Amino acid sequence: MIQTAVLGFGTVGSGVVEVLDRNSDKINGTVREGINVKYILDLREFPESPYRDKVVHDYDVILNDPDIKIICETMGGKEPAYTFSRKALEKGISVCTSNKELVAAKGPELISIAKEHNCSYMFEASVGGGIPLLRPIVTSLEQEKITKVTGILNGTTNYILTKMDAEGADFDETLGEAQAKGYAERNPEADVEGYDTGRKIAILTSLISGGTVKFEDVYCEGIAKITQEDFRAARLAGGVIKLLGICELGEDGRYTVMTAPFIVGRESPLAMVNDVYNGILIHGNMVDDVMFYGQGAGRYPTASAVVADVVDCARNIGKWIPIDWDGSKVEELAPFFERKGKFMVRVDIDERAAVAMAFGTSVQVLDAATGEFTFITGELTEKDFADKAASLKTVRNSIRVLADK
Ligand SMILES: NC(=O)c1ccc[n+]([C@@H]2O[C@H](COP(=O)([O-])OP(=O)(O)OC[C@H]3O[C@@H](n4cnc5c(N)ncnc54)[C@H](OP(=O)(O)O)[C@@H]3O)[C@@H](O)[C@H]2O)c1
Repeated sequence: MIQTAVLGFGTVGSGVVEVLDRNSDKINGTVREGINVKYILDLREFPESPYRDKVVHDYDVILNDPDIKIICETMGGKEPAYTFSRKALEKGISVCTSNKELVAAKGPELISIAKEHNCSYMFEASVGGGIPLLRPIVTSLEQEKITKVTGILNGTTNYILTKMDAEGADFDETLGEAQAKGYAERNPEADVEGYDTGRKIAILTSLISGGTVKFEDVYCEGIAKITQEDFRAARLAGGVIKLLGICELGEDGRYTVMTAPFIVGRESPLAMVNDVYNGILIHGNMVDDVMFYGQGAGRYPTASAVVADVVDCARNIGKWIPIDWDGSKVEELAPFFERKGKFMVRVDIDERAAVAMAFGTSVQVLDAATGEFTFITGELTEKDFADKAASLKTVRNSIRVLADK
């Protein structure tokens, strides 16, 4: 048996133990030796759990057991997850994780420690939850020049936006409901401010470029300012509002990487990704568009992705599974203010003349009948848009419009 340990017996960690148990027939068919969970590390006892006898509280018990070949880090947060992962890798123990915060901050360093010690650092579950996404990017799409990724990467905010659109409820009310249902965390900042999506698009861009995209360099805008009037404007524009993580390769070889709400046309497959689901559209120069869809979070989908990594590591004991992510090469991103696109803007009807002065007369008017003047600009750089919008006094909100191609 290949012995493993799970660090953190919460939503994902308990799911990992269950997936390995319930699907053991299937897993043992592919990994001949079989995979066993020998220890579960957590702060608490779990007297009701059938796995209670495996629970330990001292990490050294796991680290000093020579039988342990693979660890699943499902605690979350930077510390002690980073120290625990590093110590395991230095002993040649592979680590499989769902912890996107740690992967975004320390991924390349942990990959390189793994390489040095003939083991692997794997993180399929850190982006897209249960959707097989990172493995296809680094294997099936290895031959492609990936020029654009457009993803709905956060189930919580997608649930909130879908509900607000369908039920006409406001943001705070819908967030409260999502928290009551367990879809949103008690501290929802990372989700609603776009940081979670920002970390995921940073990880994806790093894997695509082979360099390192720092989360701090990703432009992040969340969904807390979105109102029913914005959904109405999106409908008038023939679209829906989605929080997107985008990375786009420019002609100068630099990537624009961002997270923000966008109006997405109804004909886009991303417009049909609703509730807690995630959808990721990848454009390769030869394969054209490829779409990934599925549950981006949740106990079993996320655990399934962690277990996929465990199985891969079990088949490669004593070997490093290559991941091209160079920590010493920090990607220089394209300046965000140079990004070009169209913007939906809502101002008071009295500012119609001022809009014509700032944006010209060829804007696409969506609404001029309800006390508001709602329009879509022509294509502008972020800087031009910000300058022109600053000349208006009553901008109620503005949302970027996703280009068709
Ligand atoms: N939930 C999802 O659907 C999902 C999806 C994709 C990725 N993720 C990521 O997966 C990771 C885990 O998420 P989760 O939802 O499973 O979190 P969770 O339910 O809070 O589970 C974390 C577990 O780790 C334990 N823990 C924390 N610090 C510990 C320590 N120092 N030593 C031992 N145990 C410790 C916690 O114990 P206490 O409860 O006692 O603190 C808890 O049982 C996070 O990085 C998250 O972002 C989650």
